[in-house]
Amino acid sequence: MKRGVMQRLKHRSRRRPLGATHGVAGRYNLGMIARIANDMAQYIGFGAADAENIRALRPYLLKHVSDIVERFYEALDAHPGARAVLEGPEQLNRLKQTLSQWIESLLSGDYDENYWSRRARIGQVHVEVQLPQHYMFCGMEVLWGEFQRITVAEGVPEAPAKLRSLHKLLTLEVGVMLETYKDNLSQKVRSLERSAVHEQLHRAEQLAQIGQLAASLAHEIKNPLAGISGAIQIMRDATPPDDPHQPILAEILRQVTRLDGTVKDLLIYARPKPPSFEQCRINELCERVVTMLLREPKLRRISFRSQLQADLPTIQADEAQIEQVLINLLLNAADASRENGVVRLTSSNTGGNVEIRVIDEGVGMDEQTVQRAFEPFFTLKSKGTGLGLPICQKIVEAHGGEISVRSEPGLGTTVVVRLPQEPRKDGLR
Ligand code: HEM
Repeated sequence: MKRGVMQRLKHRSRRRPLGATHGVAGRYNLGMIARIANDMAQYIGFGAADAENIRALRPYLLKHVSDIVERFYEALDAHPGARAVLEGPEQLNRLKQTLSQWIESLLSGDYDENYWSRRARIGQVHVEVQLPQHYMFCGMEVLWGEFQRITVAEGVPEAPAKLRSLHKLLTLEVGVMLETYKDNLSQKVRSLERSAVHEQLHRAEQLAQIGQLAASLAHEIKNPLAGISGAIQIMRDATPPDDPHQPILAEILRQVTRLDGTVKDLLIYARPKPPSFEQCRINELCERVVTMLLREPKLRRISFRSQLQADLPTIQADEAQIEQVLINLLLNAADASRENGVVRLTSSNTGGNVEIRVIDEGVGMDEQTVQRAFEPFFTLKSKGTGLGLPICQKIVEAHGGEISVRSEPGLGTTVVVRLPQEPRKDGLR
């Protein structure tokens, strides 16, 4: 027996006295279950005449209840999978008793809403003990076999019609039992969804707070940093070129410039400017950005290849912001590339959108990393701020576009940016 099931059973049997009802009402959609029973009854034409037929069968079958119950548990015991659900003799005795009561109420002839609610609660016990759903059919089949056998042996008048009514009822019983499984599953899905939404909201709140904090910090740092940079430049200009302090001053300036970049990123991310839209030729922008990047000495080890579709429509966009997106994406691609790697930049017209792709053949990312790629401050680079892609996402979305990443570890990464020709009036997608 599975350990989890075993533990659940022990837990249940310790807490629940024999024949006690379950405190599950309200947790399950009992009204819905009664409606489903009613719906099935209408479909198969189960009504008052059937209830009457079943009531007529009652005295014949009740005489043999203990035989029926014994046969039911013999069949169950003979099957290793079904047997594994059971805990031990004490539980078995309890089950025999409750099954007898179940058969008695089955033959009562009174199938109102309360009846189906009670049935749903019983079904719920099976869900709780993790009884495999398909065993419901098996259990019901054994009961049906016994009901038929006894009806014939007892020589019940008009047996076929009575058995027909009983068979319909057993079908409703299985339907209700299955519905309890489904209801339970939907409850679980709903509760999972709720916790996922909660998690997302919590994360969004955290990020908003971090963003605010980062923005105020960045603001505080920006001005003193400009002062330091100016002072170092004055010192550098006043120092003879061959002075041994020159390399130190140059290094300080480099670091200050880097810090300045981080601060700018933080401010762009935390307080993005709304795009100011103008006519923009994406191909020209792409060419300009690539030419600019080619001048960067550290990018000389990379080959940039552009494949730009000739007849692209112009789009409404903020050129400076889209330029920033392209620079971020191309720099990311270059960083991920190996020595002498190739980074491809393509543009195309796809159903009214302009699509830009930045493709590298670098180290790539696994599924988990791809999922976190747009998370602010998430980075695997030693020198990154983790804001490059989130900034791109903010800009692209403010243009009413979409950005996505596909990656294969060891093979490379493709970032796809889709920009509409015209953003929606409200600036949203
Ligand atoms: C399909 C016909 C079945 C019927 C009519 C039926 C009926 C019942 C009833 C009336 C209860 C008691 C519910 C309560 O405590 O309120 C119950 C519980 C239970 N049933 Fe079934 N059952 C069926 C099939 C099965 C099968 C096939 C298995 C096992 C393979 C099984 C295992 C159990 C177990 C483990 C419990 C919980 C017992 C406890 O710990 O109290 N049942 N069932």
